[in-house]
Amino acid sequence: MVKVIECESYEKLSERAADIISEQILVKPNSVLGLATGSTPVGAYQKLVEKYKEGSVDFNGITAFNLDEYCGIDKEHSQSYYTFMRENLFSHVNIDLNNTHIPDGRASDIDKQCSEYDAMIDAAGGIDLQLLGIGGNGHIGFNEPCDCFPVGTHIISLHPSTIEANSRFFDSVDDVPTQALTMGLGSIMKAKKILLLAFGESKRETVKKAFSGPVVPSVPASVLQLHPDVTVLWG
Ligand code: PGA
Repeated sequence: MVKVIECESYEKLSERAADIISEQILVKPNSVLGLATGSTPVGAYQKLVEKYKEGSVDFNGITAFNLDEYCGIDKEHSQSYYTFMRENLFSHVNIDLNNTHIPDGRASDIDKQCSEYDAMIDAAGGIDLQLLGIGGNGHIGFNEPCDCFPVGTHIISLHPSTIEANSRFFDSVDDVPTQALTMGLGSIMKAKKILLLAFGESKRETVKKAFSGPVVPSVPASVLQLHPDVTVLWG
């Protein structure tokens, strides 16, 4: 079931997202969180850092798995998702970095890296709360529109529209990696709860297609209609 909640501003959307995540942590201090990158969750991470500094949320028992990572850039690269997570959340809260996981886009054996990532999520007990953004083309994680619903973590060639969208973070479009590792839609669907954030006029049509249209792999996020517990914060 998908519950869509309209938020009047990015500030309110971020507050609401941080409240949902911190409630999850309060109810289950050893929660396994699935985390997302991109510009949309940045405000929610800032609110979570504020809550941590006020003493109202404790990341000590948390395990985190990120959705995806680029291939072909070092983890220390300024635009890697490893760096993103440290800059936006992990360095500012008391999470044990040993319990934070991001697929290794530079692994020499990609298939092994992908199957080990899925096995690690299972061994941690599965994801309690998965945070998601949504691409303009309906992707979640880096599951791009295609003719099937990919199940597990896998390597993907980024869609030209994704490369174009993400070029704003790089010096030029030619610097954007063309491949990434991403959790599959099956991995995402196994999460007990899902929280998807979408903000801005440019996402309006995408949200409509994903949650009011048919469930089709050409709009990967539409598969979430089949999940029992999805909250979409939209503004
Ligand atoms: P955005 O990206 O939050 O930067 O819009 C979302 C996504 O591509 O999943």
